[in-house]
Amino acid sequence: MTQNDQHPLEELGHQQRTLDPCLLVIFGATGDLTSRKLFPAIYNLKREGQLPASFACTGFARRKKSHEEFRDEMKEAINKHSRVKPIDESIWGSFQDKIFYHESSFDEPEGYKKLKTFLEELDTKFGTKGNRVFYLSTQPSYFPIIIEQLEQNGLMYNYETVKDKWSRVIIEKPFGHDLDSAHALQADLLKHIAEPQLFRIDHYLGKETVQNLLAFRFSNSIFESLWNGRYIDHVQITAAEELGIGTRGKFYEEQGLSRDFIQNHLMQLLSLVAMEPPHNLSADAVRDEKVKVLECISPFNEETFETNACRGQYEKGFISGEAVKGYREEDNVDPKSSVETYAALKLYIDNWRWDGVPFYIRGGKRLPKRATEIAVTFKLPPGKLFCKTGQKIEPDTLAIRIQPNEGISLKMNCKVPGPSSPIQPVKMDFRYGAFFGLAPPEAYERLICDCIVGDSTLFARQDEVFNSWRILTPLLEYWGSKKPENFPNYQAGSWGPKVSDDMMERDGRKWRLI
Ligand code: BG6
Repeated sequence: MTQNDQHPLEELGHQQRTLDPCLLVIFGATGDLTSRKLFPAIYNLKREGQLPASFACTGFARRKKSHEEFRDEMKEAINKHSRVKPIDESIWGSFQDKIFYHESSFDEPEGYKKLKTFLEELDTKFGTKGNRVFYLSTQPSYFPIIIEQLEQNGLMYNYETVKDKWSRVIIEKPFGHDLDSAHALQADLLKHIAEPQLFRIDHYLGKETVQNLLAFRFSNSIFESLWNGRYIDHVQITAAEELGIGTRGKFYEEQGLSRDFIQNHLMQLLSLVAMEPPHNLSADAVRDEKVKVLECISPFNEETFETNACRGQYEKGFISGEAVKGYREEDNVDPKSSVETYAALKLYIDNWRWDGVPFYIRGGKRLPKRATEIAVTFKLPPGKLFCKTGQKIEPDTLAIRIQPNEGISLKMNCKVPGPSSPIQPVKMDFRYGAFFGLAPPEAYERLICDCIVGDSTLFARQDEVFNSWRILTPLLEYWGSKKPENFPNYQAGSWGPKVSDDMMERDGRKWRLI
């Protein structure tokens, strides 16, 4: 499939695609992502018959372990994290023989030479024809090292000259640490591989509800005429998590929450909500429109550092009645760390559609519940028709729930039956689970398949990544240079720091209660 072929959205739902035989190699196979997301996704793809018939998977990491130990660990991980549990022994029984482990450090050429020989043996055994997906799920600082080693040891094929087999790399976010390093990383990677071989994953794009944003906006005409600053008061995008940083202390100390999920996941949601209709649904047409949105956002600057952004860090508290540690007490975290685990931003998109409409974005760890949603609040109707009795009318709000309880609800006003005519908000609610009768597949399932097919629509293009960094880098530098004096500033289990509510209050608004 080429980038200009029909986009999967046009297929309206899951349709079988022909996937080339291939081997998947996961770098950082002993990490959190592999057990929480990647192996459950691979298992579910296998269970649903969506993997290529000729397929095998190898974990690559530094720790010493046998193939059998790795298989047992992955089985346990699937049992714990898969969306369908428990594991089906009849599927796992034969599938586990296609799972392997390769021990090596990431910068050791010898390890890659052995990997090459090993993969060639697997090609012979499983008929995988030399095709490779390399999934880089390591600390971001290893990305250039691994890609260089892959190329130098004959594991990455030349995109221009090798036509009978392919090699692709899925690279986890964050892509770079700021704008300059993202450019430097891109230049570094392109010495060893070609852009079409590079799949920058932002797993939010693989979520059904995120893909539905395009369908919802552009296959319904009712909202389009209202989708602008004439009728919309503001937009709130929230990604809240109960989870803390778990075993990822080292990663968090390097990245912080803004790099972990605002620069990528939440900026992607923003561009999908705000983009113009693309001229078709090809990968490039969709991404062109998303980039245009980002291009209309000014970078943070001295005037907006303090007024349009704030950050927080959790201290100990309670989540679902259980006592949990503060960030500074977590493993591998500096007891005086000034890394943020919460951030809230206000952004303006300087174009005709969105002139003057604030987009508020917030994300945080150790908040009271897991909830990602986009809420579009409409302006109040003009006039004072219903204000005679002194009652206050609430604005209509469209809430798109990305997860959990995936769905869309519209809050609008309605007259309570009876003679006195009070107005009360009511809600129309659509729920994926209730309507379609099944939970949506995990994002990683979709994205791993898309990479095997060679479809990059749901992966981030370089200019999207750069533009997002362009907006945020000055703020991240400012935060880096100015240690927060009041950290930690929110209790685990609360809705974040007071400074965030203050930011809304200054605008006469409030964060939505989710
Ligand atoms: C990841 C972040 O990209 O997304 C994690 O690194 C976060 O910190 C996760 O927990 C959230 O993903 P999901 O799909 O569980 O909402």
